[in-house]
Amino acid sequence: MLSLQVNQLTKVYSNHTLALNQISFKAKPGESVVILGANGSGKSTLLRCLVGLEKPTSGQVFLGNWEVTALPNARLRTVRRRVGMVFQHFNLVKNLSAFHNVLQGALGRSRGPWYWFPATAPAVERQRAMDCLAQVHLADLATQRVDTLSGGQQQRVAIARMLMQNPDIVLVDEPVASLDPKAGREVMDLLYTIVREQGLTMICNLHQLDLAMTYADRIIGLSSGQIVLDQPVTNVNSDALDWLYQRSAPKVQSEVIARR
Ligand SMILES: Nc1ncnc2c1ncn2[C@@H]1O[C@H](COP(=O)(O)OP(=O)(O)OP(=O)(O)O)[C@@H](O)[C@H]1O
Ligand SMILES: [Mg+2]
Repeated sequence: MLSLQVNQLTKVYSNHTLALNQISFKAKPGESVVILGANGSGKSTLLRCLVGLEKPTSGQVFLGNWEVTALPNARLRTVRRRVGMVFQHFNLVKNLSAFHNVLQGALGRSRGPWYWFPATAPAVERQRAMDCLAQVHLADLATQRVDTLSGGQQQRVAIARMLMQNPDIVLVDEPVASLDPKAGREVMDLLYTIVREQGLTMICNLHQLDLAMTYADRIIGLSSGQIVLDQPVTNVNSDALDWLYQRSAPKVQSEVIARR
């Protein structure tokens, strides 16, 4: 399993928004870290920087022994095969079946175009895709187009696709934001069970304080791109989290850095 280390990560977008300001933290292999913070506090920017989808302005990210922030794009693709990503809007191919979407989780290890299609993918991968769907309790809906599934079911397909990928670390950005509370709990339960069983490292952006308290080993609070809280969940009380959300999140401009 992969550890994660972030050193003094700063991101200033081209419009001068300072989205991340000197972020440093480590996640141990198997640790479940929840990142909390108001809208615009920098959570999604941070996740994107962790896998090189966004280039930070300065600072370093290490995944295991890879220095993500120093890798050329071709090598980044190799690293991303080890990273499972689950997002709020599912990122599924809408006109394909649940099974076909999950099968695509194998593309990172594919050796030819036949992996693209259910009819030509190796039997071992097809069986694995069915197993992954079964793990998220969707085996009976395998052939259904994903755009006809409910939001909770679609997010479970996304989790099955992540499982199919067989990652070492999972980055999750507001996985339940568009789900009702019951479906949201189901999705978090599943995700958490899988992450625990497989000993995966998980970094998960959330808005729901109750879910954070239930599923995190550790909570990191962001405000205006800075870490303002970093504690094991057992040390965190809900007042501290309310305070985190009551802090205003003004846009800090890059001049703040320039003045240093
Ligand atoms: N591509 C971009 N170009 C310019 N500014 C950006 C870009 N993406 C994000 N920002 C800005 O960076 C800051 C952090 O945004 P980010 O999306 O990381 O926040 P977030 O914590 O994920 O918010 P939310 O809870 O709403 O998802 C915000 O001020 C946002 O407007
Ligand atoms: Mg976000």
